[in-house]
Amino acid sequence: MKILVIGNGAREHAIAWKLAAERSVTEVVCTPGNPGIGAVARCVPASLNDPAALLAVAAREQVDLTVVGPELPLSLGVVDLFTAEGRPIVGPTKAAAALESSKSFAKDVMNRFEVPTARFETCDSAQAAQAVIASGRLGYPLVLKADGLAAGKGVVIAPDRQAAEAAVRDAMVERRFGDAGNRVVLEEFLAGEEASYFVLADGTDFVPLSSAQDHKRIFDNDEGPNTGGMGAFAPSPLMTPAMEERVHAEIVRPVLNGMAGEGNPFRGFLYVGLMLTATGPKVIEFNVRLGDPEAQVLLPRLDEDLSWLLGAAATGALPTRPAKFRREPHVGLVLASAGYPDQPVTGAPISGIEQAASVPGALVFHAATARQDRQLVTAGGRVLTVVGRGESYQQAIDVAYRAAGEIRFEGMQLRRDIGRKALTS
Ligand code: AMP
Ligand code: GLY
Repeated sequence: MKILVIGNGAREHAIAWKLAAERSVTEVVCTPGNPGIGAVARCVPASLNDPAALLAVAAREQVDLTVVGPELPLSLGVVDLFTAEGRPIVGPTKAAAALESSKSFAKDVMNRFEVPTARFETCDSAQAAQAVIASGRLGYPLVLKADGLAAGKGVVIAPDRQAAEAAVRDAMVERRFGDAGNRVVLEEFLAGEEASYFVLADGTDFVPLSSAQDHKRIFDNDEGPNTGGMGAFAPSPLMTPAMEERVHAEIVRPVLNGMAGEGNPFRGFLYVGLMLTATGPKVIEFNVRLGDPEAQVLLPRLDEDLSWLLGAAATGALPTRPAKFRREPHVGLVLASAGYPDQPVTGAPISGIEQAASVPGALVFHAATARQDRQLVTAGGRVLTVVGRGESYQQAIDVAYRAAGEIRFEGMQLRRDIGRKALTS
């Protein structure tokens, strides 16, 4: 089987790395890819915001199956286009991808199928939002979310009325999130611990893909601004078998059955962002893809062929059993550029990747790297994910930090507390 991976980050590096090691996979092509992915797949240029160009790559390369990493091409309808041309692909249609690309769509789906989530109001104007704030009915802190895609940065948690009003002005008058903020969702604040849960769905059935926990803030102890994710561990010790069963019964099945029943079936990876509250699991958000950096700690644990699961998902033939996972915990550290998440500094030479990858139990996945002449340099905010595997969370943490300690680039940012939460919960 020849497989095309669409994307260029560390998540796609993990996907390509896993596929390349499988017996039934003859070749992995990745578009556009990156220098790290180039070691396990053949990289072909194409723009992620151009579905027709992505289709042209699949056709030219005569691939048997395509899997989509990031949300952007999904939200632009790459799956609709491939399907219309009879090309097998794993991912949701544009309409189903609205679970991620429109927060109000996701909230309406949850309301219709009685999926537990925060109480909310959708507002199409600053006046409407200010009126909801004035009513006080969602309490404080109040959470404000830009409706559209905002790279994980479209959420503001306002501690009081003044901050909430300012957040509305920012999104809807100053247009800080651009068009993504033309509509906002205001919702109640949920207290609890966060965990992420993943399934692969084929439109009706799903295979559970285990759990992870991300670290979204830039600094240790969850301080500073939100990022795309500074590190993750898998599995989440909070996701007991009983909790998983609740998530299946109260969230995953109602959403998949409900969407299929409305003629908008969901096929692909579903990422369920959860708040585990005193009254049970509630959905904070859905993403329609694997997480980044969650995929980097999830896929190395997968103890069966990803290519087989993807093929089954594309043809509607998924088994009704959980995927097999290795028991060992994995911990992933994101090495980020100076200035991330606001203004990442790029072009810094990177050294030590080979030494890091040779630490027993360690893996290095590339995100934003580039080759300049023959030197590997930083090319964006999140540069690398270094993953450690161990018999225990502590061992996995130690392996990850030992490996990351080998890597150097100017201004490198790295949280020092990734995985600590797994030791205490
Ligand atoms: P999102 O982009 O929707 O995942 O939100 C980013 C982060 O904001 C989440 O990871 C949570 O930490 C936080 N958050 C979002 N919605 C809520 C909520 N209703 N209550 C508490 N925290 C939230
Ligand atoms: N790490 C969060 C995400 O992929 O959305």
